[in-house]
Amino acid sequence: MRQRVLSGMRPSGKLHLGHYLGVLVNWKKLQEDNDCFFFVADWHALTTEYERTGIIRESIDDMVIDWLAAGIDPKKATLFIQSRVPQHAELHLLLSMITPLPWLERNPTYKEQLREQTTRDLHTYGFLGYPVLQAADILMYDAALVPVGIDQVPHLELAREIARRFDFLYKEVFTIPQAYLTETPKIMGTDNRKMSKTYGNAILLSDTAEEVWAKVKPMVTDPARVRRSDPGNPEICNVFAYHRIFSDRETIEKVNVGCRTAGIGCIECKKWMYEHMEKVLAPVRERRNQILESRVSVRDILEEGTERARAIAEKKMKEVRDAVRI
Ligand code: TRP
Ligand code: SF4
Repeated sequence: MRQRVLSGMRPSGKLHLGHYLGVLVNWKKLQEDNDCFFFVADWHALTTEYERTGIIRESIDDMVIDWLAAGIDPKKATLFIQSRVPQHAELHLLLSMITPLPWLERNPTYKEQLREQTTRDLHTYGFLGYPVLQAADILMYDAALVPVGIDQVPHLELAREIARRFDFLYKEVFTIPQAYLTETPKIMGTDNRKMSKTYGNAILLSDTAEEVWAKVKPMVTDPARVRRSDPGNPEICNVFAYHRIFSDRETIEKVNVGCRTAGIGCIECKKWMYEHMEKVLAPVRERRNQILESRVSVRDILEEGTERARAIAEKKMKEVRDAVRI
């Protein structure tokens, strides 16, 4: 059965393998037999980037080209920009009227971000309301399934509670959405910290094969393997973790044994891993080149998707305004 699927991504520049494995693979699968809406959450980016807004607009094209390169197909899914569908802001406002403050203040993701993001002041009205805006995104399209990472589950729960409260106070107009979680391999950065462009430890979908190898080659391995003749422990080696994601069973076993017995060298091991990783990256790179050569206009794709989204959003807002009697 076809279902409405909706998900958004904040524009933060070029995407890396973490985005690919964690999000894009899922989107791609879902677009095959569902009505998918994937959007650029630029207003959400603004909640944290309000002091350097330039990077938001600059990031949109890069990010959406990465979506297309990864196989997201604008003929199958509707791709749009949140801020170009102002109905999201209107719904956000109406939902904010009925959302009890404690629901927002006790949100674990909110509390964690306030603690961790010390470089910017997030004690703003907009940031507290982040999940209300997200609820508006979701409820606007009657999305049944929302593919998100596990960290977004509290936001999804809030969206459900807000929808129920609205339906109870006024009229049943919203579909209660469900988080769609899938097991995705967790990939660390090449330095074994969280993969992030700002740490410089990310393998980008737009990296050339040479650039990828230049990042793989110096990866830290088991520090006990100083010399080629020293046996290693693959369990503590990030390269082995990558093998587990990209390589076939046979290679993994060969590495497991070879490492422990000093039968293989680290460079050789990295080369094998790199070759398997390239099986994922090369088709993405090829599609990117096709897209660039064919002069497909990302602007046009987003324009078309945004039109479609806007029509659905306006229809929903008519129902919503009616229900609120405003
Ligand atoms: N908060 C999401 C994230 O950081 C992005 C997002 C915004 C979103 N609106 C959404 C995801 C609606 C799913 C549905 O990843
Ligand atoms: Fe890591 Fe492979 Fe070297 Fe073992 S042989 S330490 S798994 S890179």
